[in-house]
Parts: sequence; C-alpha cells; structure tokens
Amino acid sequence: KKKVILDCDPGHDDAFGIMLAVQHLDVLGLTTIGGNSPLENVTTNALKVLEVLGAADDIGVYPGHSCPMVAPLVTAPQFHGETGMDGPVLPDPVHAPQPKHAVDFIVETVMSTDDVTLIATGPLTNIAAAINREPRIVERVKELCIMGGSVTYGNWTPAAEFNIFVDPEAASRVFNSGMHVKMTGINLTRQCNLTGEHVAEFRRIGTKAALLAADLTDFFIGTCAEESELTGATMHDACAVAWIVKPELIKSVPMHIDIELDGRLTRGMTVCDYRHLRGEAPEVDLERTPTMDFRGEKPNAEAALELDFPGFVELLNTTLERYD
Ligand code: BDR
Ligand code: CA
Repeated sequence: KKKVILDCDPGHDDAFGIMLAVQHLDVLGLTTIGGNSPLENVTTNALKVLEVLGAADDIGVYPGHSCPMVAPLVTAPQFHGETGMDGPVLPDPVHAPQPKHAVDFIVETVMSTDDVTLIATGPLTNIAAAINREPRIVERVKELCIMGGSVTYGNWTPAAEFNIFVDPEAASRVFNSGMHVKMTGINLTRQCNLTGEHVAEFRRIGTKAALLAADLTDFFIGTCAEESELTGATMHDACAVAWIVKPELIKSVPMHIDIELDGRLTRGMTVCDYRHLRGEAPEVDLERTPTMDFRGEKPNAEAALELDFPGFVELLNTTLERYD
C-alpha cells in the first residue's frame, strides 16, 4: 500500500477522501487545516469519520494551522453547514486529537520515512509551513496530490477555486517549491457529481460507512443545488485521493502552474500555462506529445483533465462494501 499523509478540512467531500484513503492506502496520519470550517470543527469531523470507519485507534489526527499565512480565514458554511460537516448525526468522538502539531508530524514523518505521498484537500497552509520548516521534504516526498485550483475558471470567484483562494500565499509557496504537484482542479472534479441514484446504492450497500456516505451526499446535494446550478454533489476531494488509489481513473498533462497573488479580480487563480498543448483547455488534445513545439514555461505540475466517472463510482461502491 502507498504511504500517505492526508491533510484535510472535512468537509463532506473530504470525508469521502478519507473513506477511500483508509481502505486503499497506508494512512500514516490525518492532518487538519482551518478551511471549510474553523480548525476545531474540522478536527472533530476527521475524528468522527475515522470512528465510523473503525480506524480511529490506528490513525491519529494532528491539528495544524487555524488560519492562512497572510489572509484572514474564509470558511464555507453555505456548502458544508455550521459544523463543516452538517447532515449525518454522529456521536462526539471518543478519541482526542494528537498533541503534536500537523506541521511537526508532516516534517518528522517525511524525513524519517521513504516514499511518502502527501494528499492535500484543503488550503495549503500546513504544506507550505512544512516546506518552510524543513525544505528538504521537497526532495523527500514522493509527490503531492492536491484538490485545488482549476485549469479553467473558478468556483469561489470567477477566477479562483476555494482552497487556493483561502490561502494563495501558501499555494504559491508550494507550487514554486520544486515539489512535484498533481493538481486535481475543479475543471476535473466537476465531472464527479453524485446524485440520488448513487445515494440509493449507498443505502443498499448498508455498511456504516455507506450510510455515512449516503447522509453526507444527501446534505451536500442540497447545498450544491442551492449555491449553484448543479444537480449533484461534487465530490472534489475524493477525486484527489482516487488519483493516488487508482491512477488510471484520471488523465492528466504536465503543465506549469503559478498562483496569482495580486490580481484585483484574479487573486487565488491558478495560472496554467498550456501553450504547449494544442487547443484550449479543457479541450486540450490529450494524445498529443507535449514537447514538440513547447513555448510555455517548464512544467512544475501535472494537471488532471479527464475523469473516468463510472470507474470512480465503482471504486467508491466497492470501497464502501469493504467496511463493516
Ligand atoms: C474545495 O473546497 C471545499 O469546500 C471542498 O472541501 C473542496 O476541498 C472545492 O473547491
Ligand atoms: Ca476540502
């Protein structure tokens, strides 16, 4: 199993990321970051999800930064409710968070363990702070797979996706660090919408994890519909985890990506250089070898473009079946 640390802010879609990770990956720890909801809430939510999955004895939850590096924290109660994970009724967690800070956990684990993959499904504050604390982690990690950004347009603003918008300075630090970044942006995750049919299947599967998935999706379908034109719940963060669990589910291209920090309308935008690809994203020609007449900057990232959605749903259903 691939060794991972999952840095998250649960969050309905983060919870799905946790479900996939716990079943298919060697999760060395969960670290939490203020994002969808304040740090205390997302940490409690992470513990609750692990307890439903029966994994809380084995996987520690390490709280990280409560706010971004420079900007004030922006949260998303209109999507995730006041607790950050409204909908399912879950008991208070029995387990306490770990006393070690997330950044210490990330640095110590990566420096002492080979081939750790970092997955980040919230603002990138903890990852940037870990790089600042110990720059050698850039070379030590296998890769960093994030949910955030977009090859096309934004969701929180016309230009920016939520996770990058919340802490653009941290995202800039990460994308310019030399760490290999896989970017699961909303251009990809918008291909991953769960509807009532999927909820019915989760209820039929009937494991504790599947019932949690059903309750989470029911709530999230409602807020996604209120806040956008979507008729499903977009499982953004689960896509980033799925990319590590089953890489063939996602088609991607190498790209140079940098973060806009100053734009009046574009702060937090992931500026994606796809001049080396024919056509305009998202319709870039995936079959084309991207080196022939390369005019853009040297790629520092791999941008996800196409999701095998039926394959994703199958992975999710088999995962939920495997829990008790
Ligand atoms: C991202 O923002 C959060 O609300 C979700 O959990 C996801 O990580 C989508 O823009
Ligand atoms: Ca998230």
